[in-house]
Amino acid sequence: MTRVDWLTEEQHPDDKAIQERLTSTGSLPSHVAVIMDGNGRWAQGSGRPRIDGHREGMESVRAVVKATSQLGINFLTLYAFSIENWKRPATEVGFLMRLLESYLRKEVDELHANRVRIRTIGNTNALPKAVQHVLRSAMDRTANNQGLTLTLALSYGARWDLMRAMQLFALDVRRGKMSPEDVNDETIRAYLQTSFLPDPDLIIRTSGEMRLSNFLLWEAAYSELYVTDIPWPEFRRAELYAALCTYLERERRFGKTSAQVQNGDSSSDHISTLRQILNAFS
Ligand code: FPP
Repeated sequence: MTRVDWLTEEQHPDDKAIQERLTSTGSLPSHVAVIMDGNGRWAQGSGRPRIDGHREGMESVRAVVKATSQLGINFLTLYAFSIENWKRPATEVGFLMRLLESYLRKEVDELHANRVRIRTIGNTNALPKAVQHVLRSAMDRTANNQGLTLTLALSYGARWDLMRAMQLFALDVRRGKMSPEDVNDETIRAYLQTSFLPDPDLIIRTSGEMRLSNFLLWEAAYSELYVTDIPWPEFRRAELYAALCTYLERERRFGKTSAQVQNGDSSSDHISTLRQILNAFS
């Protein structure tokens, strides 16, 4: 089967123009993380079963992975299944696991052809063996790719990761490899499963809820948050571009003053032209 090359495939001219304008700012986030919420409500809103929302949400995953990769963003992290999601009805959990497995089976060739590197965070030992197997093989196959790092948060909880990090650190203290004085920002990071990732610059949450839901709590300290009412199944490339425009308009101060951080980044003219093209596109 011919694999689509995302960088050379034919694109709608407006889509191409938006992407070029976004990348030309030179200020796009390096790491975008997404809380993909609202699948169930989206489906139930039209009298359909919740799993239909997850199925449609998979199309949004495809669209966002591709657009992110085309934009040259380095890291995309998707909150696909939280540690708390195990409490959902067994039929829904089973469906999500099968969906994940089939996504990886079907898409790995195309992801690999487009230099995507697949990684996971979370307690993946808790996943069904078949899912673990397909994940392992997708990660091994794409391990040396230099394009987008797509991290799937699966059976993930930020508090779980922090607890795990503390346990590992305590064990190293007991073994004499570490001492309590070694606890600092850098060592804490090194013990977290997210150690291979930079902190997210932008966290997107769909479907309107204003919370982090146990996602990247340590790493989100200075992330820009973008919450949209649009449910995940309707969040496609145009919605991603809108989120990125908003991100570009933000001033990231990291505790400093506005005067200290001003570097004449993306001009407001540039962003407003972008928004005009975007409005016509969506
Ligand atoms: C939240 O919507 C979404 C999930 C719990 C699962 C997200 C999973 C996918 C989109 C598919 C699998 C993903 C990958 C990356 C292979 P919700 O069910 O909580 O919706 P609700 O808040 O309306 O109930």
